[in-house]
Amino acid sequence: MRGRMQGFLTAPVLCYFTVSSTAGKADWCIPEERDALLAFRDGVADPRGELRSWRGQDCCKWSGVACSRKTLHVIKLDVSQYGLKGEINSSLAALTRLAHLNLSHNDFGWAAIPEFVGAFKELRYLDLSHAKFGGNIPPQLGNLSTLKLLDLPFNFPRLRMDSFLWVSRLTSLTYLDLGWVYLAASSDWLQALSKLPLLQVLHLNDAFLPATNLNSISHVNFTALTVLDLKNNELNSCLPNWIWRMHSLSYLDLSSCQLSGSVPDKIGNLTSLKLLQLRNNHLTGEVPPAMRRLCSLNYIDLSMNSLSGNTAETKNLFHCMKKLHFLDVSNNNISGSVSGWLEDLTGVVYLDISMNLFSGQVPEDIGKLPN
Ligand SMILES: *[C@@H]1O[C@H](CO)[C@@H](O)[C@H](O)[C@H]1NC(C)=O
Ligand SMILES: *[C@@H]1O[C@H](CO)[C@@H](O)[C@H](O)[C@H]1NC(C)=O
Ligand SMILES: *[C@@H]1O[C@H](CO)[C@@H](O)[C@H](O)[C@H]1NC(C)=O
Ligand SMILES: *[C@@H]1O[C@H](CO)[C@@H](O)[C@H](O)[C@H]1NC(C)=O
Ligand SMILES: *[C@@H]1O[C@H](CO)[C@@H](O)[C@H](O)[C@H]1NC(C)=O
Ligand SMILES: *[C@@H]1O[C@H](CO)[C@@H](O)[C@H](O)[C@H]1NC(C)=O
Repeated sequence: MRGRMQGFLTAPVLCYFTVSSTAGKADWCIPEERDALLAFRDGVADPRGELRSWRGQDCCKWSGVACSRKTLHVIKLDVSQYGLKGEINSSLAALTRLAHLNLSHNDFGWAAIPEFVGAFKELRYLDLSHAKFGGNIPPQLGNLSTLKLLDLPFNFPRLRMDSFLWVSRLTSLTYLDLGWVYLAASSDWLQALSKLPLLQVLHLNDAFLPATNLNSISHVNFTALTVLDLKNNELNSCLPNWIWRMHSLSYLDLSSCQLSGSVPDKIGNLTSLKLLQLRNNHLTGEVPPAMRRLCSLNYIDLSMNSLSGNTAETKNLFHCMKKLHFLDVSNNNISGSVSGWLEDLTGVVYLDISMNLFSGQVPEDIGKLPN
């Protein structure tokens, strides 16, 4: 998904200035912005010397810094993986034209995410993952109406968020990762996210989400979703009905979510699905025969449920899945013969069908499976 990030240099928002970089003045960066960067530099320890190049007049040439060629404003600051330690100096607020801020993989000592980040009106990419931020995520971020990507995972266990209300104002958002953020008090998460029309990738795994009836809303706007990852949250719900309309969904991970009820035949509509992870829930009913339409699947994990069904009825279930390499249906209640379908699994490198009610002999053909 991050591949999408290229191209922002050509975005129209940077083109309405008339200042010319050939107007006789030196092509140097804006002095206030240089001072802001220097104050940031002086506030952090830089054990690996990554900020060595941060000297001299032209901050546009410093490592991790990029300026607009037209306006000379700093539009990108990417000091990810610099191993910096310390505080973020509030002078950084002077970089008002930032479109891209990446502070990931540093150590900010569990300080709060600065509220002034919410004032970067042109910000489109904000990556603060793996950076030891703590406290409540400031609702000021809700002012970032142009934000496309918000990446905050792995600030465990200190970063938290008590309300999702402000997230519903991020109407340009296509990518949201709040994995490992402590969200136990955010009972409005689904309500807020359902308003985001452009959302494509959603990771809320391991986030202590409160128990949520996923069917408490009938309509969601994020129908362009390609990744839905809610794993490891005690949702205590049935599978949501709105999910079966998401024809672009390719990655669905709802493992360890305390889900109950059955998997409806409508799953056959998710024809883009590549990964299906439903392991460790309380799902009952049959393995839906309509899954045989999901020819793009390459990873299926339905283990540790109470799924039933007989392989005689679900014949050819895997027949069209030419790319399937992982199949785990262990610890269920599936019955029937093991022959007549195992032979279809020609590309599988991991297979676990143990702890079921299978009968019959393992087909000799299984020895012919290449993997
Ligand atoms: C920010 O940097 C300025 C200039 O270096 C310094 O005077 C100020 O104390 C710093 N603020 C914080 C909170 O560190
Ligand atoms: C931030 O930097 C990390 C590591 O360098 C990179 O993987 C990630 O894609 C960057 N995030 C953004 C939004 O550019
Ligand atoms: C940003 O959001 C906060 C709270 O959500 C609000 O109080 C503030 O006025 C907003 N600031 C700007 C500059 O829009
Ligand atoms: C979906 O978006 C439309 C228009 O963008 C809006 O009117 C509607 O309230 C949204 N629906 C939800 C559930 O947020
Ligand atoms: C699933 O697909 C069938 C036929 O392709 C269609 O009639 C049905 O409305 C779809 N269901 C949903 C929930 O999108
Ligand atoms: C498996 O099915 C049998 C009867 O068909 C039932 O008694 C048992 O409780 C089921 N086990 C699970 C784990 O669902």
